[in-house]
Amino acid sequence: MTLATDLITRLETWNVEDSRARGTKRWGRYPEGVLDLSVAEMDFPTAEPVLRSLQDSVTRERFGYPLSEEHTTFQSACGSWLRAGGLPVGDGNVFMLAHVAQGISLAVRHFTRPGAPVAVITPTYSSFFSAIEVAGREVVQVPMNAHATGRYTLDLNGIEEALAAGAGSVLLCNPSNPTGTVYTQEELQSLAELADRHGVRVISDEVHAPLTYSDAEHVPFASVSPEAADVAITVTSASKAWNIPGLRCAIIAFTRDTDVQTWRSLSGGAKGGISPLGIFATIAAVSEGQPWLNAAITVLEKKRNHLVEALNALGHGHVITSPGATYLGWLDLRAFGRGELAERFLRDVGVFLTDGSAHGLAGAGHVRVNFATHDSVIDEFVDRADALLRAW
Ligand SMILES: Cc1ncc(COP(=O)(O)O)c(C=O)c1O
Repeated sequence: MTLATDLITRLETWNVEDSRARGTKRWGRYPEGVLDLSVAEMDFPTAEPVLRSLQDSVTRERFGYPLSEEHTTFQSACGSWLRAGGLPVGDGNVFMLAHVAQGISLAVRHFTRPGAPVAVITPTYSSFFSAIEVAGREVVQVPMNAHATGRYTLDLNGIEEALAAGAGSVLLCNPSNPTGTVYTQEELQSLAELADRHGVRVISDEVHAPLTYSDAEHVPFASVSPEAADVAITVTSASKAWNIPGLRCAIIAFTRDTDVQTWRSLSGGAKGGISPLGIFATIAAVSEGQPWLNAAITVLEKKRNHLVEALNALGHGHVITSPGATYLGWLDLRAFGRGELAERFLRDVGVFLTDGSAHGLAGAGHVRVNFATHDSVIDEFVDRADALLRAW
């Protein structure tokens, strides 16, 4: 057996009990029998390089305050990884922070016009709204264009209107949580052109980019044109791709050189909360974790197809569009109503999902389902969803 097939087998055979034993939020909130498919974490064993790094950290008792970027290999490791993914950034413009939402709050507060609202492309990651609230700014929701095929595209007219009305930045989730949309080069170029013309910043959360499937291609926003590099602030992390959100370490990357001075001028308190275990685990993930990630994507792609085919087989194919990235299925249940969908899933069939309304006004009538779980759980979910949809 080659290493890759061995890895794939290990990922495929990891089951819910293994995850439950971790004692984290993923399977820790509901009694056995309830399928909690809301938390965005994968039911997979952890990548060996990450585990080795953590074991080494424990052996060394790496429990003190963390070193800054300059005193570790964080910048060179993360810089190389980001450039390999197409982001045109130098090592010295890559900084660490505790988590992605912290980077978004800081970017809004310190890199955009004081007091200006933020144009948020929706449906989007629910914590964007609180990150903007923490920054003391208002949100202007700009829904994507939802096409009859289930695909979403940027509503450039809507974004332009928001900017003309005073928004000082655009917050983009690229690729999109929850819709799995992978934006095209052309869309992103148009967005950059708009932002440049209005003198505003685009904050691009690219945390799901490493989880892009073989039939799609992630384009880093900052890479699409010189204007894009200038307006962009990119936030990302190893937390989604390697399943380590509890380790508290994320990445902010500046493709406008003068941003680096601003970043350095911010207080350590504002940028704090980073775990030294997370720093070393992130370095291990991005520099040695690619084989694990390749195996994870292979397995996730099968799970994605399995979910779509299983829904299709029961006549519900129209509620899902195969995502180009992320392990999140976005189910369009508007035909069944717009309110309390997640509540009804929990109450009637014991499935806990994220209600679409948490992802912005445009999310009403949808639910989000995490399919990064054992195939038997996906099958059980489909059976329960089928029972509910038939009863409606
Ligand atoms: C788009 C997006 N950004 C950020 C995060 C959270 O990342 P972190 O826990 O590293 O802040 C998530 C988590 O699901 C996410 O989907």
